[in-house]
Amino acid sequence: MTVLVTGARGAIARAVTDRLHAAGHPVRAASARPVELTPPPGVEGVELVLDRPETFPAALAGARQVFLYPEPAGIAAFVEAAEAVGVEHVVLLSSASVLEPGAEDDPPASHSLRVERALADAPFTVTLLRPDAFAGNALGWAHFIARGVPVPLAYPDACIAPVHPADIADIAVRALTGDRLAGRALTLTGAQSLTFREQLAIIADTIGRPVAVAEITREEAEEQLARHMPPAMAGSLLDLWARATVTPVPIADTTASLLAAEPRTFAEWVRENPAAFTAR
Ligand SMILES: NC(=O)c1ccc[n+]([C@@H]2O[C@H](COP(=O)([O-])OP(=O)(O)OC[C@H]3O[C@@H](n4cnc5c(N)ncnc54)[C@H](OP(=O)(O)O)[C@@H]3O)[C@@H](O)[C@H]2O)c1
Repeated sequence: MTVLVTGARGAIARAVTDRLHAAGHPVRAASARPVELTPPPGVEGVELVLDRPETFPAALAGARQVFLYPEPAGIAAFVEAAEAVGVEHVVLLSSASVLEPGAEDDPPASHSLRVERALADAPFTVTLLRPDAFAGNALGWAHFIARGVPVPLAYPDACIAPVHPADIADIAVRALTGDRLAGRALTLTGAQSLTFREQLAIIADTIGRPVAVAEITREEAEEQLARHMPPAMAGSLLDLWARATVTPVPIADTTASLLAAEPRTFAEWVRENPAAFTAR
């Protein structure tokens, strides 16, 4: 019952691979750059590029389950190939953004939505994990905090419930190894709503240094974000934060509701990653 984990250099994929392997499940790690993989000893690494179908056979051989990162290019052929080799269950790392109004026309949301749709008619069981903002998004502030520069924010009072990546991995593994979550669509958040200001205060407490906010206009924020991502993605993130300033993102499924386990907090994530905010 090999589990194929795609996007295996990714943070969640690595955590899923490690957990499955540690629990004794046969697992294969597939990446667009397999030479850069560092899977646990005994875990095979293979090449998988969704828009290169010639990479499918070696990746899918003997696989009964797939942990899948959303990549619309080539997804229809991948679904066909997975069906042909007898895959029984796919757990997709989708996004809560697919539930937002206008998701179809929003580039990052439509990326995941197109994959969800390609899986909708598949003959195997599909579990949709739709996380909201990751705790690790705070790394976007690291550069400012490490230099002691105020963090520029257009919506410092946007209120979200960041989810710890290890919680996502725990839920993914439970979906892959038990029946209770399989086939469900799960919106995942952390258990605690926090504004960006509150998140920055937690970082400041952890590193023992004040962290200031510099309020900027939406236009300034758009310009800054567009240096690191396509402008449409920057616009949709800012829309989301504007909405979350008025209406906090609701708490959805967590490890408490799904696994009866205490959800990891944002503060825990910061304590695990202090160097990101202090290294220059
Ligand atoms: N951040 C959020 O708030 C948020 C919220 C909801 C959903 N999501 C979804 O979550 C996914 C991102 O998850 P993640 O944080 O686990 O992914 P990640 O670490 O950002 O990696 C994403 C993918 O990029 C590829 N990659 C290319 N170069 C890499 C490198 N140098 N190091 C690591 N990976 C590299 C990997 O696939 P290969 O190994 O095949 O190259 C990997 O699976 C996205 O699909 C996103 O839509 C994110």
